[in-house]
Amino acid sequence: MTRVTVRVPAKLNLQLAVGPPRADGYHDLVTVFHAVSLFDEITAEPAGRDGVTVSGEGADRVPADRDNLALRAVAALRAALRAAGPSAPGVHITIAKRIPVAAGLAGGSGDGAAALVACNELWNGRLGQPQLLEIAARVGSDVAFALLGGTAVGRGRGERLTPALAPATQYHWVLAFAGGHLSTPEVYAALDRQRSRAGSHGVQGPAQPELDAALMSALRSGDARLVGRALSNDLQPAALSLFPALRKTLAAGLELGALGALVAGSGPTCVFLAASADRALDLAASLSGAGVCRSVARASGPVPGAVIVPPAR
Ligand code: C5P
Repeated sequence: MTRVTVRVPAKLNLQLAVGPPRADGYHDLVTVFHAVSLFDEITAEPAGRDGVTVSGEGADRVPADRDNLALRAVAALRAALRAAGPSAPGVHITIAKRIPVAAGLAGGSGDGAAALVACNELWNGRLGQPQLLEIAARVGSDVAFALLGGTAVGRGRGERLTPALAPATQYHWVLAFAGGHLSTPEVYAALDRQRSRAGSHGVQGPAQPELDAALMSALRSGDARLVGRALSNDLQPAALSLFPALRKTLAAGLELGALGALVAGSGPTCVFLAASADRALDLAASLSGAGVCRSVARASGPVPGAVIVPPAR
């Protein structure tokens, strides 16, 4: 085998409930992940030593060294394989980005997941999904979900996953990309500050996060209107405090008829649920005309996680 290409989806969080900070600096979460049809494509091929090339959307903001999540995933897979037997040779990873960087859509985590799948295949597919999920969890909080895809409940840092049983409803989303970026650690830190200020005014601190029963029942019903109403993100107030212009974007989408709106993960992408594919098309066109974001995209979900793209014949 000379090269393997893998396609990996962006993720949304339909619920993101954040607990207090833990001793290791992370936050316990309960989140409902949802994979949507906006994909990065990564190719792995044998090379003298590990390297990475990035092209496409926001490529200049992606580290092209060992900090790159794809290369970190390669190193983690190699370490796991070494424990099991012969070592795995060098690889060059080529990433074609369509998922914007630092946008709250887990594009970097997706590239890590895709690199795991591609290199496992390149190195003779020795590991099964349970083992890959374990390695993924060590690489980053959202990497395991990018392997799994679909709709799933995440706990812990987000890496402990349970697939959500739901009917085969496809949801139609409009993504409004912002003309700026937010750093995930900074958004979590802003949330902690907001909460400790509220605490000093007598408001109780965050409890342990809990799964939203209304959202889960909406997902089981497959009724987009109910899902739209139940979307929630504890990081949203923090993201809005760091990027106030997003308020206007969210308000515009709701005025234009979206069933629900929220900031994606740690932002700054804003996400809107539409009632149908046609409504999503209208909403995307109106939002891009409203001048409240840098660009828009449509995506549907759920879609599967990282999958190998068969070679063209
Ligand atoms: O695990 P990952 O590298 O994707 O996380 C990026 C950053 O987001 C972490 O360093 C941490 O600051 C924050 N984070 C957190 N709690 C989580 C997930 C991420 O505080 N559950």
